[in-house]
Amino acid sequence: YLQQVEKDRRYIVDTLLAGLSRLEYRGYDSAGIAIDGDADNTATIYKQVGKVNALRKKINEDKSIDMEKTFVSHTSMAHTRWATHGQPSERNSHPHRSDPKNEFLVVHNGIITNYKELRTVLEKKGYVFESDTDTECIAKLAKYLFDSQKGSKALTFTALTKAVIKELEGAFALILKSSQFPNEIIATRRGSPLLIGVKTAKKLKVDFVDVEFGMAEAQNADKLAEESENLLTPADPTHPKIHRSQSRAFLSEDGMPQPIEYFLASDPSAIVEHTKRVLYLEDDDIAHIDEGELHIHRLRRDDGISAIRSIQTLEMEIAEIMKGSFDHFMQKEIYEQPESVVNTMRGRVNFDTHTVNLGGLKAYLSTIRRCRRIVFVACGTSFHSCIATRAIFEELTEIPVSNELASDFLDRRTPIFRDDVCVFVSQSGETADTILALRYCLERGALCLGVTNTVGSSISRETHCGVHLNAGPEIGVASTKAYTSQFIALVMMALQLSEDRISMAERRKLIIDELHELPRYIKETLALDKELQTLARDVLHKEKSLLIMGRGAQHATCLEGALKIKEISYMHSEGILAGELKHGPLALIDENMPVILIMTRDSLYPKVQSALQQVTARKGAPIIICNKEDTGISNQTRTIRVPSTVDALQGIITVIPLQLLSYHLAVLNGVDVDFPRNLAKSVTVE
Ligand code: G6P
Repeated sequence: YLQQVEKDRRYIVDTLLAGLSRLEYRGYDSAGIAIDGDADNTATIYKQVGKVNALRKKINEDKSIDMEKTFVSHTSMAHTRWATHGQPSERNSHPHRSDPKNEFLVVHNGIITNYKELRTVLEKKGYVFESDTDTECIAKLAKYLFDSQKGSKALTFTALTKAVIKELEGAFALILKSSQFPNEIIATRRGSPLLIGVKTAKKLKVDFVDVEFGMAEAQNADKLAEESENLLTPADPTHPKIHRSQSRAFLSEDGMPQPIEYFLASDPSAIVEHTKRVLYLEDDDIAHIDEGELHIHRLRRDDGISAIRSIQTLEMEIAEIMKGSFDHFMQKEIYEQPESVVNTMRGRVNFDTHTVNLGGLKAYLSTIRRCRRIVFVACGTSFHSCIATRAIFEELTEIPVSNELASDFLDRRTPIFRDDVCVFVSQSGETADTILALRYCLERGALCLGVTNTVGSSISRETHCGVHLNAGPEIGVASTKAYTSQFIALVMMALQLSEDRISMAERRKLIIDELHELPRYIKETLALDKELQTLARDVLHKEKSLLIMGRGAQHATCLEGALKIKEISYMHSEGILAGELKHGPLALIDENMPVILIMTRDSLYPKVQSALQQVTARKGAPIIICNKEDTGISNQTRTIRVPSTVDALQGIITVIPLQLLSYHLAVLNGVDVDFPRNLAKSVTVE
């Protein structure tokens, strides 16, 4: 059997690099690979800042290893990194190792929130860290635990992994390999996606059966040919002697044993060219691959999680979407939101205990709680996320909050004191106005927090502490997924700061429960895309101007929607606080003025109803964004119906139709959607 397995190092390198290239559309700042070495099982590691091609070049140019040479072990791993801890650099890119001999190697997606504690312990034990990442502590921890148990028969790679992940807090998808366990590889996850692609010979008759069988049985296994593809589990899933699942699949049509290849990836697009048959791991699954066999173990006994892992066939459509088949980055980023909001919450929100843990703020919580006010400072879309969350921030924390546009804040030389907390919100972390405002506040002794999407950016470096959005790179100039992630990051901050306020317990619980549902609501809202395209084409596209009105929690949505529309479609648009309607904007209303009114079911609903009456009385016929079950709106009215959630989060949902609408208006107007004229993604001049 083993002889049938591909042994060529070149093949594995090429497969891994091709997989990384498939993930390029997600954006990354560096890449790395660990390739199995020669007879002593020592892996060779290559790392490179920048593109996968640069990594490929580096490997090809290295004459010190013989690429064509057969090697005994054939497990290798690779990774593209988007910095979360530590700047983009070679030393911070993955794989990370336990020691200079590369005894334990790891690639990791996610965030280990207790890595500082682990690192301190391991440093005390003499481990010398080479990077600023949270990931490195996993490799070092594996070696430490391995060395402390060395010689014990029970010390399998799986047992070791269990011990390692028991110590980890936060979110992870991990691949581990070790020269101590040649030919074996481990994949395990908690909170971050991880899947296993299974490739077998084309004419395979028997794939997966729920009994363990070896080569001899395989020879006459035809009778099992009709078995399902489920990996069934024995009655006692944690019984150490029973494999959780058996997946030896050898038999081809001609009865000859065939090799299986396993592909471990966080995203099916990396492996879809090899196989469409995938098995998604669940949290705390430990998949162990050894000599062509896959075994799935659970971290804990009786945890109530079903142990059946089905092989699914990837739909081509999904693969295409993941390949980045969108026409524009902005469109792709709008569609990424069900995932990006989860990434912002991953490892931070505990939906069972209703708690939030933002690692970056931990040491500063009591200082923030004692401050006399919180000042949010930002520009553009980031500023709108501050407007969107101010009310819930004040409600939950009872700390006064003020919102400042960075340029105006500086122009006014706003008084700032040592007991102020200033929060700088910026997708890029490089906006000049926001950076200057930050330096201004640092000089005045305020505690400065950063909320950015870019690790290593000026704002994340120069602030005392902060929260990283983890929304993934945003490329379209018009910000979309960063807005919804900023929204969530600020709500999470308010939730954490108010955890000791008993009077807020119910409200906090409700918001956390609804945070859990957000991805579903967002997906449902994205399904309105066609409707919005029609609205753009048939109703709004030829118009010169569009007013977007709402109040309370929806005011920010109006401002953000109008900004999206003007920046990428070049149509004039204005976000109007409905309470101000009678103080001026009403003069603009007649039967020809296009208006969108946001009217969701919150405490201000009656007041927005009166705004609607004011508009209709002037022959205006607004398009209404409302909750999907709202029966109070006349059938005559054109509505965009969105899922309902708690008022504090509703703005995350209502902004999505406006993002989509702006996108379609821009396309209809023939604008270069991702790069609108006169604008830049990151404005690094004052
Ligand atoms: C530019 C971009 C906007 C962005 C603003 C603030 O104007 O075009 O999309 O909202 O800068 O950027 P920041 O990176 O600080 O969030």
